[in-house]
Amino acid sequence: MKQQLEEILKKSLTEIEKSVDLKQLEDVRLKFLGKTGELTMILRGMKDIPAEERREIGMLANSLREKIETSLSQKFSELENAKLLADMEKEKIDITEPSTGTKKGALHPLTRFNNKFMELCVEMGFTVIQTPEIETDYYNFEALNVPKNHPARDMQDSLYITDKILMRTHTSTAQVHAMETFKPPFKIVCPGRVYRNDDDSSHSPIFNQFEALVVDENVSLKDFMIMVREMAVRLYGKDVKMRVRPAYFPFTEPSIEIDATCQMCHGKGCALCKGTGFSEFFGGGIVNPKILEMSGIDSKKYSGFAFGPGIDRSVMVTNKIPNIKYLFRNDMRFLKQMR
Ligand code: DAH
Repeated sequence: MKQQLEEILKKSLTEIEKSVDLKQLEDVRLKFLGKTGELTMILRGMKDIPAEERREIGMLANSLREKIETSLSQKFSELENAKLLADMEKEKIDITEPSTGTKKGALHPLTRFNNKFMELCVEMGFTVIQTPEIETDYYNFEALNVPKNHPARDMQDSLYITDKILMRTHTSTAQVHAMETFKPPFKIVCPGRVYRNDDDSSHSPIFNQFEALVVDENVSLKDFMIMVREMAVRLYGKDVKMRVRPAYFPFTEPSIEIDATCQMCHGKGCALCKGTGFSEFFGGGIVNPKILEMSGIDSKKYSGFAFGPGIDRSVMVTNKIPNIKYLFRNDMRFLKQMR
């Protein structure tokens, strides 16, 4: 029996020593000390040993058990340390390795232009608002005095969703929302996408405008011109020249179109401005009193002016972009050049 125990000790210590990982070590523990382990079985069989030997064998078995446990726990910490070191090695970050560099993002040229214009408007006291891109016929046309048979209502120009619902064809819809929402005096500006059934190198079915509206007592065309001049100067510099042409819009009376120095040739005359030195800045005018009345504003007390520039053309000119579609394709090769 003693010999058997000595052998168990020798065998177990060798196997513990040979273990290369925690799993293997645990298997060794179970093999000798587990419920049906070799040593456990011997201890369980003690009752069959003659009484005079039992004490001696019992003491021997217990000291053996202690030796095995000590050896197991030493090996356990050894293996665990090794595992920790190996993990640390695996997760090590080489902080001296040169980086591949971070790529810098940039704003889209339309966003840049829009931000510039909105900042300017805010400096001049305007409130920036946003109104829906999907509109009813009422906000897009009727409330802006666009008669039923006006060509702008033609199915060919407007993108209808149902008989009475369409993608807004202009941001002038914001005028109606503003007049319904704010009490005069107010100054609002509304940037946004507009939609038309139009598609060639200078027209896209989606393009961008903003709408400005000022309503107050005694607002005149002179106030309008002073403000427009100030805007042109802040945008293009104080040498900017302007000219005014009569125009027609159902929602303004009188209506005008304002041209400013061509930003491509700076007034010298080029293909874009057809040699005139001017390009269209925007359309606008004095708000038709009918429109104020329709939205519940007293047109005897209040008057207003409104204007609505498209911004894509300006962005194209200032960035020398030949086709409007480039603005909407989000092609990285194009966007990188626009940084
Ligand atoms: N909504 C017009 C368009 O899309 C532009 C415009 C003209 C806006 C005159 C105005 C305005 O506010 O008074 O062509």
